Amino acid sequence: MKNSDLKIYTYGNSNAKPLIFVHGFPLNSGMWENQTRELSSDFFVVTYDLRGLGKSPVPQIPYTMFDHADDLLTIIRELDLKEPIIGGLSMGGYILQAFLMRHDFKPSGIILTNTRANADDNVTKLRRSNGIGLIRSGKTREFIKDFIPTCFCEKTKILNPDIVEKLIESNLDSDPAGVAGALFAMLSRPDTTEFVKSIDIPTLVIGGSDDLVTPASMMEETFGSIKNVSFNIIPDSGHLSPIEKGTEFNEIVRKFFKNF
Ligand code: MLT
Repeated sequence: MKNSDLKIYTYGNSNAKPLIFVHGFPLNSGMWENQTRELSSDFFVVTYDLRGLGKSPVPQIPYTMFDHADDLLTIIRELDLKEPIIGGLSMGGYILQAFLMRHDFKPSGIILTNTRANADDNVTKLRRSNGIGLIRSGKTREFIKDFIPTCFCEKTKILNPDIVEKLIESNLDSDPAGVAGALFAMLSRPDTTEFVKSIDIPTLVIGGSDDLVTPASMMEETFGSIKNVSFNIIPDSGHLSPIEKGTEFNEIVRKFFKNF
């Protein structure tokens, strides 16, 4: 896929340090709104809609995390991004890990936020498969309406119900084949647990204290031993830290990468 096929958005001065954000499931690049608004004064922020989601084309043939990894490299090359920092949330983190595994390209730093390294176990595979079945039966909107709230922590849902509604609303028209395609790519993704131990790139890990999808303790166990790692847990945040606690998230990013 050429970059011209994918929907890419850039923010800030193109001479500043490039910072690419890779979004999670079943979302689109709009999830990085807090980051594109607040971090574009420090970085050249790049976001894009993954194949199958947002305004990017939906391939007809199944695709994998490695195809997503190739898309990321294509974007870096075609925008000529020099020594970028790359951050991925959840599925975006799976893509980032697949990218590091597959390509001999060294970002100057990475951000792994609300994500994991282990592949799906059979229970999760079955759940994804049921999700694909639901989508096949024409219930994509119901799937999205049910799934998105599970990513937020209780406190966000009570204190900021508008954020939850807004995110549902902005993803409700996702293409069914793209949502199912992403489920299949996650179901078939590689296990990177061993691989992450070899990462030798400055790594910022950010989790949420109340993240039930990728719990903070699991993230610490998985990513805590990366050589050059800063491990951060944001209080009162669920699985969507950049959305639920945008300012705190951005401060952590600024602090870690201030001399890059
Ligand atoms: C995501 O936030 O990208 C997904 O919840 C990840 C997953 O379901 O494994």
